[in-house]
Amino acid sequence: MSRKIGRNDPCPCGSGFKYKRCCLGRNPSGSIDIKKLYAEQYKIRLKKIKDIKGISRSGRLVLDTLDLVESEIRAGITTDDINTSVHEFTVKNGGIPAPLNYRSFPKSVCVSVNEVICHGIPGDKVLQDGDIANVDVTTILKGYYADASKTFFVGTPSPEARKIVRVARESLKIGMSMVRPGNTIGDIGWAIQRYAEGQGCSVVRGFTGHGVGFEFHEPPQVPHFGEKGVGITLVPGMVFTLEPMVNLGKKDLRILEDNWTAVTKDGSLSAQFEQTVLVTNDGFESLTPFDL
Ligand code: MF3
Ligand code: CO
Ligand code: CO
Repeated sequence: MSRKIGRNDPCPCGSGFKYKRCCLGRNPSGSIDIKKLYAEQYKIRLKKIKDIKGISRSGRLVLDTLDLVESEIRAGITTDDINTSVHEFTVKNGGIPAPLNYRSFPKSVCVSVNEVICHGIPGDKVLQDGDIANVDVTTILKGYYADASKTFFVGTPSPEARKIVRVARESLKIGMSMVRPGNTIGDIGWAIQRYAEGQGCSVVRGFTGHGVGFEFHEPPQVPHFGEKGVGITLVPGMVFTLEPMVNLGKKDLRILEDNWTAVTKDGSLSAQFEQTVLVTNDGFESLTPFDL
């Protein structure tokens, strides 16, 4: 059975726009240029197969770097030791550490310990038994950016540390499960917020996931909170990060004097996991896949 599509009906291309504002008359051949539409409407650059391969190769190097960090992290080393390992390993493998000199960031990786939410600058801080440390690696390989992070236990974690790391990991998993064509960006944030708050934790508002691939941070922003059905409709070829930052206490943050380090206002623990994901024809594929 078929029915005429009205000018004010949702466009069949799944963009979320009215038919008249989208594909009606746009392309007489009947095939819809979503790539052009998303570029014009949202400044979102959809990725081609060649681009996806490039980002995925970069993602492989990011994962190998995180594995190296995992093998080395322990009480007694400094956050700068992690920076040195990440920098040397990346360069040795033909990559460029994207954080270095990015908007004047002075190091090659972000290391965010305990109450640090994100953008911790490596330095002479010595890791202690019981700390949690997020290590956020972004690599440029042959011009393609991939971005992922994990929160590691240093030595033996407290029950609080175990909890916030579990909730952060699960938040990313739940967010990723919402990624499929036809869902919206708001659906992702809604699912993460509902889960994390249901666990008695809070979701950071000041930093979001982001388009990635050709640049470090591309449109769109992908909040980790929000409302179902709101925001841009996901279409195949979109590549963006999900990187929910979850606090054991309140959501509020402040930025330290270094103009980078974001910490929880109440001093509570914060944890984060991040992956770079591709919207496929029937769901998603991680371009920085690791088990959650
Ligand atoms: N990797 C972070 C992100 O997930 C961004 C770090 S910006 C830097 O978006 F300059 F601090 F590296
Ligand atoms: Co990111
Ligand atoms: Co990152």
